[in-house]
Amino acid sequence: MSDPAILFVCLGNICRSPLAEAALRAEAAKAGLDLIVDSAGTGDWHVGSPPDTRAQAVALRQGIDISGYRGRQVTAEDFRRFTHVFALDADNLRNLKRIRPSDGRARLQLLMDLVPGREGSGVTDPYFGDDAGFDITWDDVTRAARAIVAQLAR
Ligand code: 4NP
Repeated sequence: MSDPAILFVCLGNICRSPLAEAALRAEAAKAGLDLIVDSAGTGDWHVGSPPDTRAQAVALRQGIDISGYRGRQVTAEDFRRFTHVFALDADNLRNLKRIRPSDGRARLQLLMDLVPGREGSGVTDPYFGDDAGFDITWDDVTRAARAIVAQLAR
């Protein structure tokens, strides 16, 4: 089996999925696991943009600089390049199922399905809320990242 390559997908690729990318990079590094990690959005409004400043701030509080990340839109090709595609919520999962090509090898899953007790739930979109929402996002994606590392380390 090829090396794991993990893609996180939300709507804008400026709040939730960049934080999921940052959390998994950090957890994989701690575990000494070599992974390809990226993130993308189903929407195209923020292509080429850095993460939301509130997302940058919550990552920086963990000592992680995500200011160099840039938004991009998910493509059919992503299902051939990545082994795992994780949707941050059910809306994005539905859209990803439409984008997935018939020869896409990536396993497509709802991210929080990996976290015991959170199966079937989405990571709440913090974009239209206040700063506290970003702390909740960070918590959720960190839990999921730990679950991914635990699964891949087995
Ligand atoms: P994300 O948050 O999907 O977590 O990156 C959003 C960012 C932007 C928008 C919606 C959600 N927007 O409508 O522009």
